[in-house]
Amino acid sequence: MTPPKLLPLLGAPSHPGGRSAMTCRYRCGDACAQPVPNESGNEYFADVVARSVSRRAVVRSGAATAAVGAISWGVAAPVAATPGRGGGRGSDRSRGPGRIKPPSDFEAIAPAPAATDELIVPTGFEWAPLISWGDPVTKGAPAFDFDNQTPEAQRGQAGYNADFAALLIDGRGRGGQGSQGRRGVLVFNNEYTNDELMFRGVTGSADLTDTQLEIVQAAHGMTIVDVRRQRPGTPWEYNRRGRRNRRLHAHTEFALDGPAAGNAALRTSADRSGRTVLGTLNNCAGGVTPWGTVLSGEENFNQYFDATDAPDPDKRLARYGITSAGRGWERVDRRFKVAEEPNEVNRFGWVVEVDPDDPSSTPVKHTAMGRFKHEGANVRLADDGRAVAYMGDDERFDYIYKFVSKRRHRPGNRRHNMKLLSEGDLYVAKFNGDGAADGDYDGTGEWLPLVVDGRSHVPGWPVADVLIWTRQAADLVGPTKMDRPEDVEPNPVNGRVYAALTNNTSRKPGQQDEANPRTPNKHGHVLELTERRNDAAAVSFTWKIVLLAGDPGDPSTFFNGYDKSEVSPISCPDNVAFDKQGNLWISTDGQPGTLGNCDALYMMPLEGPEKGRLQQFLSVPVGAECCGPWITADERTVLIAVQHPGEVSGASPENPVSRFPYLGDGQPRPGVVQVHRR
Ligand code: FEO
Ligand code: CA
Ligand code: CA
Repeated sequence: MTPPKLLPLLGAPSHPGGRSAMTCRYRCGDACAQPVPNESGNEYFADVVARSVSRRAVVRSGAATAAVGAISWGVAAPVAATPGRGGGRGSDRSRGPGRIKPPSDFEAIAPAPAATDELIVPTGFEWAPLISWGDPVTKGAPAFDFDNQTPEAQRGQAGYNADFAALLIDGRGRGGQGSQGRRGVLVFNNEYTNDELMFRGVTGSADLTDTQLEIVQAAHGMTIVDVRRQRPGTPWEYNRRGRRNRRLHAHTEFALDGPAAGNAALRTSADRSGRTVLGTLNNCAGGVTPWGTVLSGEENFNQYFDATDAPDPDKRLARYGITSAGRGWERVDRRFKVAEEPNEVNRFGWVVEVDPDDPSSTPVKHTAMGRFKHEGANVRLADDGRAVAYMGDDERFDYIYKFVSKRRHRPGNRRHNMKLLSEGDLYVAKFNGDGAADGDYDGTGEWLPLVVDGRSHVPGWPVADVLIWTRQAADLVGPTKMDRPEDVEPNPVNGRVYAALTNNTSRKPGQQDEANPRTPNKHGHVLELTERRNDAAAVSFTWKIVLLAGDPGDPSTFFNGYDKSEVSPISCPDNVAFDKQGNLWISTDGQPGTLGNCDALYMMPLEGPEKGRLQQFLSVPVGAECCGPWITADERTVLIAVQHPGEVSGASPENPVSRFPYLGDGQPRPGVVQVHRR
């Protein structure tokens, strides 16, 4: 492994969420600098006991640290490679006749200082770009040319800033995917653009020409491409002429379905039916359904709309952060001017479902799953076959939700299954702490009904209103205000659900509860939910915090009970994934501002003697956020999305801070990367 290279710049103050000021502006419209949108009177204290709990649990983990001798990871020191308890990795149990070593078998890397312009993987692994921003995808699309971008070219090229990425291997197997095939399809989201890094001479959205505005609109959305490899175990390449290649962007037609489709609040001057929307925006995380479609969450859609002069008597705009002058998109498309087209904004903030196998299909926005700043959605089947989707609303003090389909999954009947998310029940989570006596942050929880059996459970609110203004409807039933819920994903091995709570520096003393115990919560945490009888359709659950992130030398951290001298530092958990053994993989967003390290990918076992032994797998380059992640069904490829490389305040095309993926054109290009065992 080459030693990290240090660049001479940086040191710009980061914003409260740990990101650079430039990332805050483009990624979420400076959400952290705005007032907290949730002004509801929901109690911060899930119960009275929680107040005394935090101290005792903190003292307990502090004692553990002292016993093993805390080390500081503020400097890049190698992670202890000593075998874990019970034989540890040295025994290499996975190796046997005809078996490969799973990617979870690796030697942890050390954290890289935040200015490192390198993608670092463990010894014995190698990485390669699979596809990058601007690579041609659809028929006739030109090769990428940084200085000659056009809207037409971008509509046929890979979009910008991938967040979610999934590679589905063709064939039938576990989870509806093959594993030995040589072909597959890659689907990834294009969450947002950085106008200052895409074009020369642009210092903000106000500088964009009309043509450049059309280019950035075309760079949003999703990208679908066929991929192939010579044989299992060799690297994937994308197929420029693939049958399934497709771009979805700000002008692609989507169908609204479910109970709110056609509602008056979803009709516009261009769509009197309230059933057809152009575009998907700010698509963050996502998931693959058991029937092989891809779900994607529309997250910070608010920032594209100019809310100047738009009346807001019921705070239906403010509750979603639709308060700014936007990105200038209204200059080329008047539907982004709220005062002129007040309902257009209601047509964003949904979960979208895309069938990657049918490039002629119309993707769908599911109103039954509610409207909020959807991070993503991940499905598990209940015992009776109903589809259950877990979802986070990524905002400080917002909520975790779940959807339960009315109908049951029918194996092999994709047409039927693609209707499952169109009708069902919607719940929001309330977490109750069980007190300090057990020394854990844990307790019980309830799924509070919002819509059940087609009926609203929010007094005075019709079903369609609950689904369109879900945040305000949820405020009325008393859920728990969480620390920015991001990926919420069921583990296919143990059935439990894992929720990444990135951070919340606005949570003040007196506002903590047992599920959100830190004030402020600078580094974030991960919650584990166990549904009653492990049935996804249950309306109650138990829960436990399995990771309180941070420098292991910080006494408030907790690594599921593991010896903190043997774990990697981590901060700002964002996206999660699982491998075949059920290990939890966590990618991060914000470490440069909280630990001074590049963002990274980690693996943490959830069972057995190494439970809680969090190890760093890779490190992404300066300014980038680590997204994805995805472990292919054959366990031979770890896929990540390197989002916004080089996005550091002051960077520009003339003065790039990163040149990732180092293809010789000199400019940073976000994209999807594959990592293999060498
Ligand atoms: Fe797009 Fe919640 O991160
Ligand atoms: Ca407890
Ligand atoms: Ca995210």
